[in-house]
Amino acid sequence: MSVRRLDAVQPKTFRFNADNLKWARAQLKKYPKDRKASAVIPLLWRAQEQNAGWTSEPAIRYIADFLDMAYIRVYEVATFYTMFNLSPVGEHHVQLCGTTPCWLRGADDLKAVCRKHIGEQGHVTGDGKLSWVEVECLGACVNAPMVQINKDYFEDLDAEGFDKLLDDLRAGRKVKPGPQTDRQASAPLGGALTLTGDAPVTAKPAKATAKPAGKAAAPKAVAGEGKKPGGLKAARGGKADNLRLISGVGPKIEGLLNELGVFHFDQISKWTADNAAWVDGYLKFKGRIGREDWISQARTLAAGGETEFSKRSGKRGG
Ligand code: FES
Repeated sequence: MSVRRLDAVQPKTFRFNADNLKWARAQLKKYPKDRKASAVIPLLWRAQEQNAGWTSEPAIRYIADFLDMAYIRVYEVATFYTMFNLSPVGEHHVQLCGTTPCWLRGADDLKAVCRKHIGEQGHVTGDGKLSWVEVECLGACVNAPMVQINKDYFEDLDAEGFDKLLDDLRAGRKVKPGPQTDRQASAPLGGALTLTGDAPVTAKPAKATAKPAGKAAAPKAVAGEGKKPGGLKAARGGKADNLRLISGVGPKIEGLLNELGVFHFDQISKWTADNAAWVDGYLKFKGRIGREDWISQARTLAAGGETEFSKRSGKRGG
C-alpha cells in the first residue's frame, strides 16, 4: 500500500452536528469508560460521512479529543484504512481492488475505464460526480474483479459493463449493485454445484429430457455472433452425460444445454469456435465458455478422462 497523507488543503474546524453528537455519545455507552478508543472507527466513519465523504485533519483531532486519545493514534487509524478518504472525493467514489485475484481477472482493464472517465487516482471530475482510488482486497475475491462504490459492491465486472456503470452513475440512472452476471451472490457461475439433489444410488436417474432446474425461463435465442451448433432430439440411449462435470455448468445451464439438444460431452468437444460463440451469446456469458475452456474439458471427459474439476465433483454419470 502506498503512503497515505492528509490533503494539503484543510478546513479550519470540524464538529459533529447535533444528530451525530447524540449518536456518538450513545456509541460510547457500548464500551467500558476506559476503553472509549474502541469507538474510533465508527466515529471516524460518521465524521467522514458528515464531511462529504472525506476525513479532514480537524476531524481527526476532534475524534481524538472526543475519545481522549492521542492525535497520532487516530491519525494512524485514518491513514491505515483506505475506507478513510484523506482528500475530497466525488459523489460516487470508486474503490477499485487491484489485489492478485482481481488483477488476474481484469482489474487493469477496470483501471483503464477509471482513467478514461475520471483521470488519475485522487482526481475528482469537474462535475463532482466521480473519483477513484486503487485499494487492496475488499474480501469479494470469489466475484473478482470488483469495485466498491460508496457503500455498494459491484462484482464480476468487465470493462464494457463497468464503463456503462460509470456512465449510468454520472447520469443519475439507477444501477444494480452485486454481481453483474447472472450468478447469485457468490454461487458458482451457471448455478449451484452442491446440494442440487444428485440422485442417491437407489433412486432412478433423472430423465435426460428433464426441464432445467429453477423457475428461470430459458433465454430467447437471438441473432448474434457465431453459428448455432447442431443438436439431438434426445440423449443417445436415453441417458445424457452429466454435463455438470464441466466447470461452469450448473443444473440450470445443463437444462438449457439439453433444451438446445446438447446432452453429451462429445457434442461439446466438437463445437467450433463459432458454435461456442453462439452458445456463449445465447447464455449471455460474455466469453465465459472460452475462458473456462468448455471444449477442451468436454474433449477430456468424452475420451473417458478426468479434469481437475470433474475429480472434485465426484462420480460421473447422468
Ligand atoms: S482480490 Fe479483489 S476482492 Fe479480494
